[in-house]
Amino acid sequence: MLPSISRFPVVDAQSLTKKFGTLTAVDNISLKLEPGECLAILGPNGAGKTTTVEMLEGLLTPTSGHLKVFGMDMQKQRSEILERVGVLLQETNMYKRYTVKETLQLFSSFYKNPDDPLAIIDRMNLKDKTNVQLKNLSGGQKQRVYLGACLINNPELIFLDEPTTGLDPQSRRSIWDLLNALKSHHKSMILTTHYMEEAEKLADRIIIFDHGKIIAEGTLNHLIALHCDGQVITFSLATNHKQILSDELPKVLTSLKSEHQVFSSAVPIGNRVEIVAHSTSSMITAILETLKKHNYEVHELNMRSGSLEDVFIKLTGRSIRDA
Ligand SMILES: Nc1ncnc2c1ncn2[C@@H]1O[C@H](COP(=O)(O)OP(=O)(O)OP(=O)(O)O)[C@@H](O)[C@H]1O
Ligand SMILES: [Mg+2]
Repeated sequence: MLPSISRFPVVDAQSLTKKFGTLTAVDNISLKLEPGECLAILGPNGAGKTTTVEMLEGLLTPTSGHLKVFGMDMQKQRSEILERVGVLLQETNMYKRYTVKETLQLFSSFYKNPDDPLAIIDRMNLKDKTNVQLKNLSGGQKQRVYLGACLINNPELIFLDEPTTGLDPQSRRSIWDLLNALKSHHKSMILTTHYMEEAEKLADRIIIFDHGKIIAEGTLNHLIALHCDGQVITFSLATNHKQILSDELPKVLTSLKSEHQVFSSAVPIGNRVEIVAHSTSSMITAILETLKKHNYEVHELNMRSGSLEDVFIKLTGRSIRDA
């Protein structure tokens, strides 16, 4: 008897590489997605997130590597796989002259067993926009139409490439509510995002990409414990002259490091410095003493637990918001 498909990972990618001419956009990555799991891929611009998901979606052919989805080979059983997959592309801006209903009817025509477009419109909270053209919708409403279109075939596996980029906070939250509802229906999801909060809220597991490679992987707590285990102390000096800060802060850090070996990392960000320390109270005393010795006035001093953004900065050297 054949093993049941649910015994396979939903996605099983082995050593995928994608080259565009001489550029290696994705460099020998392997990843798995278990049934009902939500995986978030984070990474700076150009890290290879879209290229990776487009290979997993069957839209781009890998230069090398193996890809199985639902236990089936993507090269050999692509159309069978795609019948069960939903895709929300990065920067969709199509079908502007179509109404909401026409767009969903168009998408429903692509599949053998689509859902009722009107039921999807209802689920996406767009009933009052049914006959409105997409060009007359807000960004958040349009994104809900595209999300509805991606769900029209009742997919088991959903890819979302930056589902809320550019949306206002309220629209972002409404997309998160819809994605959380999908999670509670045990849909398997892979999403890419630049929003730390999005990954924290939705993902069961997080992968961080940089330069086409996976540089870290794990649950939120695992990543924080591994890369940012301690309290984060942030301070800034009472000056906003960038030149002084860029000249003086490294001196302050060197001085702190030589006198107090109690921090695991220190990163200047703009006119602030973030330090991850285990012995917090002695670190704060050390910071204040060192700054006083150099005659620097502290403008702001804060302390908080480590976050995904701290992990991201430590690993990629970039702030997730600037990435
Ligand atoms: N069709 C293409 N032809 C040539 N180069 C490409 C192509 N698509 C992507 N690239 C390059 O591959 C690299 C990875 O791009 P990709 O779009 O996967 O990054 P990303 O992580 O999704 O970035 P972003 O966060 O900006 O969406 C970039 O250097 C990009 O310029
Ligand atoms: Mg992208």
